[in-house]
Amino acid sequence: MKILAIETSCDETSLALLECSGPISRPKFKILKHFIASQIKIHEPFGGVVPNLAKREHLINLPVLYKKIFGKPDAEKRLWKQIKFIAVTSGPGLEPALWTGIEFAKSLGKTHKVPVYGANHMEGHLWSFLASKSGEAAVKAGLKKQFPAVALLVSGGHTILLKMAAIDKWKKLGETRDDAVGEAFDKVARILKLPYPGGPQIEKLAKIGNADAIPFPRPMIHDKNYDFSYSGLKTSVLYYLRDNSQAKSEDIAASFQKAAVEVLVFKTTKAAKEFGAKSIIIAGGVASSKYLRAALQAKAKELKIKLFVPEFKLNTDNAGMIGIAGYMNFLRGKKHSLKANGAMEV
Ligand code: KG4
Ligand code: ZN
Repeated sequence: MKILAIETSCDETSLALLECSGPISRPKFKILKHFIASQIKIHEPFGGVVPNLAKREHLINLPVLYKKIFGKPDAEKRLWKQIKFIAVTSGPGLEPALWTGIEFAKSLGKTHKVPVYGANHMEGHLWSFLASKSGEAAVKAGLKKQFPAVALLVSGGHTILLKMAAIDKWKKLGETRDDAVGEAFDKVARILKLPYPGGPQIEKLAKIGNADAIPFPRPMIHDKNYDFSYSGLKTSVLYYLRDNSQAKSEDIAASFQKAAVEVLVFKTTKAAKEFGAKSIIIAGGVASSKYLRAALQAKAKELKIKLFVPEFKLNTDNAGMIGIAGYMNFLRGKKHSLKANGAMEV
C-alpha cells in the first residue's frame, strides 16, 4: 500500500511517499519519494529552534514539497487513487510546528477522502532502521531472532533507553532527568561559539582535540537506574572555560564528547547484558554521530550481538520514518491522536 507521510515536529519540513507491505513480522518499506526542507539557516542566528519561526517556515514549505511529490494535476489525481492513508507526526515536538503538519494532512484527507492517522515521532526514529540494509537483512532472516533488544533513542529533545521484547513491544528503562544529550551537544557548541546544530560541529572539532585533556564528569554512570542527566555536564564545560580561558576548544569538544558518549555506551551495554539482548538499536539525530556508532559497534562486537543503525538520511528528522511508523501502527491497529501533543510518550 502507498502512504503519504508528513513531518513538521521541529525544524525540518518533510514529506514522503512510501510503498509498504508485509505483516508486522516481515514489514517491507520502499521510500518512493522523499523531500526534506531544512530550516537550519533560519534558526542558526538564535542558536536553537524558535517555535513561531518554525511554524511560519513549515507553512511556506509544505505546499512546495507537496508539489514536488505530486507534480501536475493529472499525476496528482492518479497518485491519490493509490494512497491508502496519510500519516502525520502528532507528537512529541513543538506544538505550533506540529499543528501545521496536522492541519495540512487533515485538509488533504478531506479533499481526497483518505484517512489521516497521527504518528509518534519517537516511534519513527525507533523503527527507521527497518529501512536500512542491515534492517532489511534482519527482516529477511526473521526479526524475532533479534529480540529481546535494547534501543537507545537520542535526539535534541530525548534520551531514552528501551527494553524491547519484540519489534512492537517495549518498556522504558530510563530517560534523561533534565537535558537531552543532543541538547547538551547544542549548548556546549554554543559555549564554544560553534554554529547550530552543535552535534556535528562538536564531532568535527573533536577529531583534532585530545579527548583525555579534561576529566569532565560522567553523570549518573554508576547509578543503579537507567536514567541520564546532561545538564550538569554542560555546566561543567561552562565553568571549565570560565576558569581556563586559554583552553583549546578542540580539547574541550573532544573531552566533552567522550564524557557524553561514554555514559550512553556504558548504560546501553549494561542493559544489553542484563536483559540478554540479541541486538542494540540506536536512533535519533545523535545516532548520526560516527563516534557514538563506532563506540557502540565495538561493544556489540564484544557481546557478539547486532547493532542496528538507520541510514544517515533517516537519522535526523524526516517523513520517511513517519511513514514507517504509520504503517507499523496500522498493522498493530494502534491509533495515535490527531491532536498535537508536545510531550507524547513513546
Ligand atoms: O532527531 P533530531 O534531528 O531532532 C530532534 O528530534 O531533536 O536530532 C537533532 C539533534 C541535535 O541536538 C543535534 O545536535 C544532534 O541531534 N546531532 C548530533 C550529531 N548530529 C546531530 N549530536 C552529536 N553528534 C552528532 N554527530
Ligand atoms: Zn527527531
